[in-house]
Amino acid sequence: MSYENIKTEIQEHVGIITLDRPEALNALCADLISELGNALDAFEANDDIGCIVLTGSEKAFAAGADIKEMEKKTFISAYMEDFITGDWEKVSNCRKPIIAAVAGFALGGGCELAMMCDFIIAADNAKFGQPEITLGTIPGAGGTQRLTRLVGKSKAMEMVLSGRMMDSEEAERSGLISRVVPLANLMEDAVKTAGLIASMSRPITYLAKDSVNQAYEVSLAAGIHYERRLFHSTFASYDQKEGMAAFIAKKRPNFKNR
Ligand code: CAA
Repeated sequence: MSYENIKTEIQEHVGIITLDRPEALNALCADLISELGNALDAFEANDDIGCIVLTGSEKAFAAGADIKEMEKKTFISAYMEDFITGDWEKVSNCRKPIIAAVAGFALGGGCELAMMCDFIIAADNAKFGQPEITLGTIPGAGGTQRLTRLVGKSKAMEMVLSGRMMDSEEAERSGLISRVVPLANLMEDAVKTAGLIASMSRPITYLAKDSVNQAYEVSLAAGIHYERRLFHSTFASYDQKEGMAAFIAKKRPNFKNR
C-alpha cells in the first residue's frame, strides 16, 4: 500500500512505520492517523512480523495533533466524530509489541502516541511534553492518564499545567522511557531490540504483553491472579516445552509459535 504521510518497511521480522510529514514536524493530521491505522492493520495481519517499531524524524517524532485541523472544531463536531478515538486507539490496541523510537519533539499527541506504544527508546535529543495548556486545551489522547501512571502525579501535573518539556535524561530518570541512546544509534538499537522480541514465541509474547498491561487496569490481587492463569496457560504450548528443553540441552530454542 502506498501512503502520503508515513513510510513503512519490513526488516526481517520487524515492521517499521516512519511518520513522514516533515513540513509540519509530523503533526498528527487525520490522514496521517488513518494511514497509521491501516499500516498497523497490515502489520498485525502479516504473520512474518513479530514486533513493530514506530518512529519519526531526527527533528520530531511528532509535534502533536494537527493544530491547524483542530482550530475550527466545535464541541459538537469533536464529540460527534469522537475525535481521537478511532485509528489513534489502534496503537494501544495493537496485539503485537510496538516500540516507539523517539528523536526530537514528542509533544502533545506525539508524546501520547509514544506512550500508547509498549515502551519508548529515546535518542539523546528527544524532548517530551504536554503543551496543550498553552493552546487553551488539555491532553486528549491519554496524556493526563498515561503520563501520570508513568512518571507520577507531581511531574505529570507540572508538565500538564505548565507545558514544560522534559529532556531524554529526565524522561529516563522518571520512568517515561526505557532507555536513552545516541541519536545516531536510535533506529539500529530499536530495530535490534524489536528483532530480539520477534525471535520469541509469538503467542507467549502476546500473553506477556497482555499480562503487563493488566497492571494498569486492575488491583494488584486481580492482576496477580490474571498473570497466574496466563502463566499456567503457557504450559499448554509447544513453545514452553521447546524453550525449557532447549535450555536444559544448552541449545537455542526453535519456537514454532504454537
Ligand atoms: N500542528 C500543526 N502544525 C504544526 C504543529 C502542530 N502540532 N507543530 C508544528 N507545526 C508546523 C508549524 O506550524 C510550522 O509550519 P509552517 O512552516 O507552515 O509555519 C512547521 O510545523 C514547523 O514548526 P515551527 O516553525 O514551529 O518549528 P520550530 O522548530 O520553531 O518549533 C515546536 C518546534 C516547538 C515543536 C513548535 O512547532 C510547536 O510548539 N509546535 C506545537 C506543539 C504543540 O502545541 N503540540 C500539541 C498539539 S495539541 C494536541 O496534541 C492535542 C492532543 O492531546 C491530542
